[in-house]
Amino acid sequence: MKLLFATSELFPLIKTGGLGDVAHSLPNALTELEVDVHVVLPAYREVLSRIDHIRVLGWLPLSGGREVRILEAEHPEFSAPLWLVDAPTLFDRPGSPYTNPEGQDWPDNAQRFALFSEAAAQLALDRLDLGWRADVVHANDWQTGLVPAFLTLDKTPPRSLFTVHNLAYDCQVDFGTFQSLHLPTHWWSMEYGEFYGRLSMLKMGLVFSKLITTVSPRYAEEIRTVEYGYGYAPILDAHADKLVGILNGIDDDIWNPRSDPLLAARYHADGKIRAAKRANREALLRALDAPEAAIRQTGALIGSVGRLVHQKGIDLLLDAIPALLAGSDSQFVLIGAGEPKLERQLKDLADSHPERVFCFIGYSETFAHQLEAGCDIFVMPSRYEPCGLNQMYSLRYGTPPVVRATGGLADTVEDTTPRSIARGEANGFVFVEPSSAALQEALERALEVFEKPKQWLKLIKTGMRGDYSWRRSAESYLQLYRPD
Ligand code: ADP
Ligand code: GLC
Repeated sequence: MKLLFATSELFPLIKTGGLGDVAHSLPNALTELEVDVHVVLPAYREVLSRIDHIRVLGWLPLSGGREVRILEAEHPEFSAPLWLVDAPTLFDRPGSPYTNPEGQDWPDNAQRFALFSEAAAQLALDRLDLGWRADVVHANDWQTGLVPAFLTLDKTPPRSLFTVHNLAYDCQVDFGTFQSLHLPTHWWSMEYGEFYGRLSMLKMGLVFSKLITTVSPRYAEEIRTVEYGYGYAPILDAHADKLVGILNGIDDDIWNPRSDPLLAARYHADGKIRAAKRANREALLRALDAPEAAIRQTGALIGSVGRLVHQKGIDLLLDAIPALLAGSDSQFVLIGAGEPKLERQLKDLADSHPERVFCFIGYSETFAHQLEAGCDIFVMPSRYEPCGLNQMYSLRYGTPPVVRATGGLADTVEDTTPRSIARGEANGFVFVEPSSAALQEALERALEVFEKPKQWLKLIKTGMRGDYSWRRSAESYLQLYRPD
């Protein structure tokens, strides 16, 4: 089976969130299942600067008489060949894949990703005459929403699958912009891409793809409700027969406390977990310039890593921290970047509690690994979470997660109750209401169990022994890729 995987992010070359991780791990897992995978990504400036072996494959014709150069790259992290769509006027820029260095969306994102999507579809159809035509094309989020649509312009198109990683993000354009995109005019209609008077790239993906997947089973149900559906619920209802939820996995080579080169002390479920976590705690706090007195403390260290945005409920955590500091001897470490207001609030909190609250504002893979290993408890109070990877990293690293009951968090974390502990199923703590009071209550429950070393160790081990590998998910995708 030949599969083209189209993505706008790819770890370790370019990543803003979990999509980058998935685009790295899933194709690798599929290659192991003997799928002939090619991955296609825009040739961003940052990507080109990180790759040594590149060759030109040729010039691919596009609509409107345009052409785009296609490169092939090799990288030791990927088992699948990587194709890069090289349009320097659109992708040779500083900043993130979607924003300028100041964090504002590029005004021409519609043009950038329409061109990328068209190029991906043409590559799948072998319009570059490489002798490789895809049987299946897997597109991801709005950035590749037009891929399934472009494919349908062929008489015998490959099967297409569109994964929703996050329904809250879309690119919607007015009629004038639509006209500049070289798209068939009938796509501007309610039946296809029109969404409240604009063209929605996300809706195009939902409508034109043969199958839609979400990154957890719970999220597939949630997005059909008004609360989580962002206006797309009726569309998803209409396409419910092609909607399936498949839980993401994690890369268990990169996220493995037994072999993680970024840790001060490595450990595994049958070894000396406590001593190793203590050493990792100390290394983490030192790296964050914590004072000696803070490093010597023995209360629980509670951590979080993630984008500082409304979705992640980080404001709920910031609101709950003062009361938790007053009522316990816990300490906090938060790593993240995002909305300036949340960054400031976090910094202020750390400044006013120099021995109890530590933060790193910015993006650091190294700190993310060290935090997972050095903390006792991990928090993810997300308002919604299509899947979430960090709760799985923390389970693997023996850092029981405290999460809100939504999306992939609900699908991976089993709340601690006397019954779930007795059955050996408990691996974390779950709360329902999206409020700081409910989060505080869940953290207090976690702190109580933390004080009971035997129970706590049981919880840690249940998490560490769980199977979060990609293999199972990759097999589920493989079934969907096969024709009905
Ligand atoms: P999302 O994709 O919504 O941001 P996920 O939990 O799926 O959430 O994935 C987030 C990924 O990005 C994880 O690998 C996480 O460790 C990483 N990440 C997010 N923010 C940071 C940061 N500030 N520093 C390091 N890693 C981060
Ligand atoms: C999105 C979601 C996150 C998910 C990730 C990878 O960014 O917000 O929950 O884990 O995609 O699928």
